[in-house]
Amino acid sequence: MNASKRMPEIWRVDVAAEIRRLPVHRGQLTYIERSRAARFRRDADRERFVIGRSTRRELLAGRLGIDPAALVFEEGRHGKPRLPPDGGPGPYFNSSHSGQWVLHAVADIEVGIDVEEIRPEFAELDDFAWVLSDAERAFVLAAAPPQRAAALATVWVRKEAYVKALGEGLSRSLPDIGITAGADGRPMLAFDRNPPARERRWSFVDLPIDAAHKACVVHAGPARRVIVHDYRPD
Ligand SMILES: CC(C)(COP(=O)(O)OP(=O)(O)OC[C@H]1O[C@@H](n2cnc3c(N)ncnc32)[C@H](O)[C@@H]1OP(=O)(O)O)[C@@H](O)C(=O)NCCC(=O)NCCS
Repeated sequence: MNASKRMPEIWRVDVAAEIRRLPVHRGQLTYIERSRAARFRRDADRERFVIGRSTRRELLAGRLGIDPAALVFEEGRHGKPRLPPDGGPGPYFNSSHSGQWVLHAVADIEVGIDVEEIRPEFAELDDFAWVLSDAERAFVLAAAPPQRAAALATVWVRKEAYVKALGEGLSRSLPDIGITAGADGRPMLAFDRNPPARERRWSFVDLPIDAAHKACVVHAGPARRVIVHDYRPD
């Protein structure tokens, strides 16, 4: 892959639009992925999973010039998928799915992404005490009650995208991580008290998806411009 500084690419996959290609998507998965898909009880969850795995294959295979079904992935200690470093590092990628969307981030630097449908129960702050730092709790409480669920979703996707960029997922204590708005209004990491200390710089970009979802991508290094593309394989 070209190692020059490309902006991280965000691909927004409309699950409903990809249903028509479901047989193609299913055919691009491994036996293990198809077995995992079969364990979902709800059709919607199964289809989103299949489409997520398959479109990720299509995106990465397109970059690498190989067949999507031929891609082999490995996983980090906490399950973050990656490509074996045979041809050098990268491309880096991460995926998230919620509601009607699958989002993929593909970059030449480490990256994490999260999307969440705004659900009414997000307004029940006591249920989310295990997620929030004091400042984040204050941020959500400062929102007018009708906007509280959206405020919680905003905090949640930033935090989850960060722990996904690290590759550590929910093994990291979330209230010990603080993400606030910087002087320019962009989200930034205020602190992460989880050991071991992380010196690396991370940049946060809130992503415009639609009124019913919040999403964020976190990438290593100084801020880069990020554009959301609609995924249209044809
Ligand atoms: C990664 C994690 C945050 C995913 O959260 P989620 O909101 O349920 O799911 P999302 O849709 O945002 O992301 C799912 C994708 O993240 C990726 N992923 C999985 N583990 C990951 C990790 N450790 N870091 C980054 N990305 C990860 C996968 O591509 C997955 O896609 P798949 O469903 O096709 O396998 C969560 O499952 C987690 O923390 N896992 C790590 C396991 C762990 O530490 N558990 C401790 C429990 S106390």
